[in-house]
Amino acid sequence: MEGNSPPLLKVENLSKKYLIKKTLFHKEYFTAVDRVSFDINYGEILGVVGESGSGKSTIGKLVLKLIQKDEGSILFKGKDIYSMNRKEEKIFRKESSVVFQDPRTSLNPRLTVYKIIEEPLIVHGVERKEREERIIKAINDAGLDETFLSRYPSELSGGQRQRVAIARAIVLDPDLIVADEPTSALDVSVQLQIIKLLEKLKKQRNISLMFISHDLNVVGNIADRIVVLYRGKIMEKGNTADIIKNPKHPYTKILFDSLPPDHPSHRKDLKKIPEIEREDIKGGCLFYHRCPVAEDICRKEPDIKKINGREVYCHFV
Ligand SMILES: Nc1ncnc2c1ncn2[C@@H]1O[C@H](COP(=O)(O)OP(=O)(O)OP(=O)(O)O)[C@@H](O)[C@H]1O
Ligand SMILES: [Mg+2]
Repeated sequence: MEGNSPPLLKVENLSKKYLIKKTLFHKEYFTAVDRVSFDINYGEILGVVGESGSGKSTIGKLVLKLIQKDEGSILFKGKDIYSMNRKEEKIFRKESSVVFQDPRTSLNPRLTVYKIIEEPLIVHGVERKEREERIIKAINDAGLDETFLSRYPSELSGGQRQRVAIARAIVLDPDLIVADEPTSALDVSVQLQIIKLLEKLKKQRNISLMFISHDLNVVGNIADRIVVLYRGKIMEKGNTADIIKNPKHPYTKILFDSLPPDHPSHRKDLKKIPEIEREDIKGGCLFYHRCPVAEDICRKEPDIKKINGREVYCHFV
């Protein structure tokens, strides 16, 4: 954070419900994001981790204003993104961008790499000469040379395609990139290269990243701080090193327990936690049905406890 200025992104009590069933008399909603709060500071990587369906992509889309929120607020550089005028919104669109999981579907197969990277520059009215310079710089910064600019996505490997997606995401010089599972569709060897590239760009261009992944191992490698999500709710939030050393929430412990045996080294301290399935309690802890240490008190929803910069949604902390 720069001095006393606000963080780049401030998310407070954000909630999102999806309409899943509608009849003449009845509407049924599913809460995908439940009163979530977090900040992303300038030049910081925030990791968002959780299993499939935990609401990671929904949060990413809300933060980029690709979908409407139901409750809460999202401030970008101190301004509410949901009440920006057209001019402010245009600047916000320029200063925020996204990298998706699968570059096979996120890149238009009919366009050359040049045209793909050029699109956002045209949308934002950048002159042709400057466009060319920026495209060349972006592709080089993404680790590819100019010969790639005349190719089509089908002529690239998965890793190269993701580099093109990253070049496109950085070409307008954003302050924030939401990277939604940017390495999940790639081979393990290529995953690490893409992570290193994002880290390099973060440093070079002072970009903040919201790095979304279902894999705590991947997030642990790149993020400064981590948010652990379960059923749309933050179970635990804190510095990556602290969480890796001493995960406090039972769900975070389970996530670590499901990592390969050689990582992280402290894993041996954690007992193997059995899979548990209980009935949900209405108004109770959202993790109750799977929690290995739940007791009667957990029939009541816990408050978020704050201890030494860590936040944990659990009665037993
Ligand atoms: N448009 C929609 N309409 C109804 N339900 C939706 C919609 N989009 C997402 N959901 C539901 O909201 C929940 C959260 O979805 P989301 O895509 O945010 O999860 P995720 O954590 O990104 O999962 P994954 O790891 O599989 O990408 C899921 O249960 C999903 O089925
Ligand atoms: Mg997702």
